[in-house]
Amino acid sequence: MKIYITTPIYYINAEPHIGHTYTTIAADVLARFYRMAGYDVFFLTGTDEHGQKIYEVAKTQNITTKEFVDRNSEIYKKLWDVLNISYTRFIRTTEPEHEETVRKVFTKLLEKGALYKGNYEGYYCIPCESYAIPEDENNPLCPDCNRTMSKISEPSYFFRMSKYAKQLERYIEENDFVKPDFRKNEVLNFIRAGLYDVSITRKNVEWGISSPTPENYTIYVWFDALINYLSGVGYIQNDILFSKYWPPDVQFIGKDIMRFHHIIWPCLLLALDLPLPKVIFAHGWWTSGKDKISKSKGNIVSPQKIIEEYGLDPLRYFLLREVPFGLDGEYSEEGFKKRYNSDLVNDLGNLVNRTLNLVETKMSGIIGNETPEITLANFAISVFEEYEKKMKAIAFSEALEEIWKLISFLNRFLDEKAPWREGCKNVAEIVNSTIYGIRAATIMLAPFIPNSSSKIWKMLGFDGDPGSKGFNLLNQNIPEGTKVNKREIIFPRKK
Ligand code: MSP
Repeated sequence: MKIYITTPIYYINAEPHIGHTYTTIAADVLARFYRMAGYDVFFLTGTDEHGQKIYEVAKTQNITTKEFVDRNSEIYKKLWDVLNISYTRFIRTTEPEHEETVRKVFTKLLEKGALYKGNYEGYYCIPCESYAIPEDENNPLCPDCNRTMSKISEPSYFFRMSKYAKQLERYIEENDFVKPDFRKNEVLNFIRAGLYDVSITRKNVEWGISSPTPENYTIYVWFDALINYLSGVGYIQNDILFSKYWPPDVQFIGKDIMRFHHIIWPCLLLALDLPLPKVIFAHGWWTSGKDKISKSKGNIVSPQKIIEEYGLDPLRYFLLREVPFGLDGEYSEEGFKKRYNSDLVNDLGNLVNRTLNLVETKMSGIIGNETPEITLANFAISVFEEYEKKMKAIAFSEALEEIWKLISFLNRFLDEKAPWREGCKNVAEIVNSTIYGIRAATIMLAPFIPNSSSKIWKMLGFDGDPGSKGFNLLNQNIPEGTKVNKREIIFPRKK
């Protein structure tokens, strides 16, 4: 079975902040989960490198636009390596193959009569790269970002989006395309209010893909960008790859770009006669001081800074645990530290540490392979079943809550059985059962905190890596004579 997962491609005019890392980490967690579940995963991410905004920022830097995009795209790519993002392909919209596909799609749409020539009279928001209608023409502010828009009047090619409104409305009504569920009506109301045709070329923007038409236009940056999801899996250029992975199964976006993804994007696909994505999931925003975290607000939270202080996995864990996926979340250092100390240090770290201490001191460092205590084994399996459901429903914080139910169960189990007490007769049975539960938690945690899971795995003395084992390992006994390795504190307490 295949699964095709995407993130938005990021504008490279500014450095990545935790908002960008959020979407990418979420996609990575799902990709890792499905790999462990035995799926053939294609995971696409990349950078969005054309358009007026990028051109203007590049101009202020005393280097060519090409040098600017090369340098900044690399910053994203490097950060994704630091964040342990297991993408299959990193696409850049300035790659010649992508540019060629965009032009071919344009030609296809022209031939199908889905494009026509007209004149665009209206407003354009450069920071959002979007056409929008201001409330007040005397003070034309962008309805999304509240910055002043420019008035433009120019000949342009239009995409006949209005033609697909009914078909899209039906698809949305009948399928789980818009996620989370509470967003569905918002999208339907927008469509029912009537869809406009969209201008898809720009006359005076030189940093873009040239249109395959006699005029000297460039292609509108959002049209170019959306096509990355097609060119990234070989549309037009690699039929075998494309037919293997199309359509996308889960596309992650932030709620700021829903209109492009829940409306323009599927209409484009309908015009191309291509199957539509299964799910496009819009998550909420990380805010700071109640404002969306963004460069323009000057309230950036740097992922590198958090990683330096806490390490990578606490960041991955916090982002997906703190806020139900789909809702907004307020970021604070205090909140981060609290979550870290309570969940990772006290619950998980402490459980692993005291259990391994028992193996070392009471069992000569060797774990036995007897069948685990029955209530514990049943509990671990029931947690896994819930976890699997939550992961498939893209409910990350709930999936983590399930794992924490198991971790709490194990901590209570140890407290109640107290195998450290003088004269305890069944130390090995208690400790081996706990290890069995820790192993189950470690496997389920692997998509979220891959490095820490591997460390726990190695300390327990198991072979390989939990992320490359399938979930079916969960209900097998621990191999006989497993010898634990040297203990280390994975999550040191923060003051
Ligand atoms: N280039 C377009 C997307 C084109 S996709 C065909 C774009 N790029 S962006 O870099 O501005 O933002 C991309 C994504 O970053 C957002 O949709 C969202 O997923 C994420 N976030 C940016 N700021 C965010 C927060 N403060 N909080 C959560 N996610 C945010 O739009």
